[in-house]
Amino acid sequence: MSERNKSWSVKKASTSFLKKRSKKLLLCSIPFLLAAGPDGGQIFADNCALCHQPDGAGAAGLAPALAGTLKRFTATPAGKTYLSQILISGMIGSIETQGHKFSGVMPAFADKLSNAEIAAVLGYVLTTFNAAPAVVTPDSVAAGRAQAPSASDTHHARAVALGAT
Ligand code: HEC
Repeated sequence: MSERNKSWSVKKASTSFLKKRSKKLLLCSIPFLLAAGPDGGQIFADNCALCHQPDGAGAAGLAPALAGTLKRFTATPAGKTYLSQILISGMIGSIETQGHKFSGVMPAFADKLSNAEIAAVLGYVLTTFNAAPAVVTPDSVAAGRAQAPSASDTHHARAVALGAT
């Protein structure tokens, strides 16, 4: 048996447990895996969890909770605009959420994450921590990016979304 055939048979043996499923099903799933896009959970772990905590509960004095606090922004156009801009420009200015005040700086991710990655991480935060629909799309992030908001514009957009202005 040639080296090549040997390695093929090893591969075959290691995947033999999959044989029960039809090969067709396996092949059909490949396009879906490729189309899945960026992994929002991984992006959150790598870029957000340090401040907002792995479970999105936030930390007093450091970063607000993202769990159970964002659904209200998914229901209105102003809320969707806010969510589509905040990762582009970050945010500066004090906010109050769940009875805690924050006046820290939310960093901008415009140069670090693509529109698709921003949509994916917000999709993860909205669906996993808020049982809310993933209303932010790569297109809405592109529209947010085109506005070139500043960190204080975002703070204003939050107030507008909450009907506080
Ligand atoms: C360096 C710490 C830090 C990191 C890293 C960080 N954030 Fe923030 N985030 C904050 C702070 C502080 C605020 C509040 C800013 C303010 O008071 O204006 C905030 C606010 C937010 C808000 C608004 C919450 C609300 O109630 O309106 C969202 C949404 C958010 N962050 C998402 C993320 C996501 C997603 C990531 C990762 C891609 C991330 N943040 C990374 C510190 C951080």
